[in-house]
Amino acid sequence: VSAADELVNTRDWERAARSVLAPGVYGYYAGGAGDERTLHDNRRAFRRWRLRPRMLVDVSEVTTECTVLGARSSMPLLVAPTALHKLAHPERELATARAAARAGTVMCLSTIATSTPAEVTAAAPEARRWFQVYVFRDRGVTKAFVDEAVDGGYEALVLTVDAPLFGHRERDLRTGFVVPPEMAVPSFTAAVGGPVAATAAEIAEQFDPTLSWRDVEALATESRLPVLVKGVLTAEDARLARDHGAAGIVVSNHGGRQLDGVPASLDVLPEVVEAVGDDLEVLMDGGVRRGTDVLVALALGARAVLIGRPVLWGLAVAGEEGVLRVLEQLRLELERALALCGCPSPAAVTAAYVAPASRS
Ligand SMILES: Cc1cc2nc3c(=O)[nH]c(=O)nc-3n(C[C@H](O)[C@H](O)[C@H](O)COP(=O)(O)O)c2cc1C
Repeated sequence: VSAADELVNTRDWERAARSVLAPGVYGYYAGGAGDERTLHDNRRAFRRWRLRPRMLVDVSEVTTECTVLGARSSMPLLVAPTALHKLAHPERELATARAAARAGTVMCLSTIATSTPAEVTAAAPEARRWFQVYVFRDRGVTKAFVDEAVDGGYEALVLTVDAPLFGHRERDLRTGFVVPPEMAVPSFTAAVGGPVAATAAEIAEQFDPTLSWRDVEALATESRLPVLVKGVLTAEDARLARDHGAAGIVVSNHGGRQLDGVPASLDVLPEVVEAVGDDLEVLMDGGVRRGTDVLVALALGARAVLIGRPVLWGLAVAGEEGVLRVLEQLRLELERALALCGCPSPAAVTAAYVAPASRS
């Protein structure tokens, strides 16, 4: 991993990943929808805040440990569900899960994974694992995967609600990106009855566009697992999620990959926290690339954040070790940021540690 030694931040990992991935795969991972305005805004939103550090606080012992959904995590930064890890590395989601376990954080497995929930359980039984749910038109396929996750000790279901169909991703159109049949996406194969080559949009055609708030309740009742609703961008939907039995919310615009023109996740976080923050856990994802980004999100009321693309960059460059290095680098960045802000733990971070940047 000697080349990886020089990769000291997520930007370095992205550059290295770009050089090893086929252009179609890189475009699929990196890209957003439409003009990619939301994709870029996710990053820019963090620049709209400044830190307000406090001095002469004893920071001889700083921890990044926290609790998420009532259980311990080594840090308030989790692995977001992302599809198709085999495109990045032959050890696919198994490598990612092992790295998350070693880093002591939560791994959320995608429905569009190139591994089954049971395979990931076997590879990293000690990892805290959540399962992300896309509901297929064939509800039997979804039920089978959810049952497998429940049996495998997954702790929560993350119902993604911003993808009744996939966003308009022009990079994929330009590169002609298709998921080759040897990538074997077990859920999709089950939904269509056999292995076929498919574009991302063709995979999403198998999702059930009739999904409604009632399904949130049904999923929680049937699985008896906490359900997080991922993809909420308004106070109105946050209240509906709460009223339909959600245990948590992930404020997310799917990494800018769905509806271009929606706000950055960070920009709507305060609205959602104000609406439901006393009732359930609010998480966010989108554009988190630095320990200081995590701190800003915590200050604005997030219980934790998730990262999508940086994990894929680590996986592409150096498999399990790469993902572990990315997670550990971000954990150390957060630890340093907490110490320099005079916060001995994530729980100490409040709104007083940030202020809007003045426009100049
Ligand atoms: C290549 C890729 C695949 C993704 N696949 C899924 C998925 O299968 N299910 C899902 O809920 N979200 C998916 N997402 C969205 C992520 O869970 C997350 O919301 C987003 O990546 C966070 O933004 P970030 O990449 O800027 O950290 C995907 C994102 C990327 C980049």
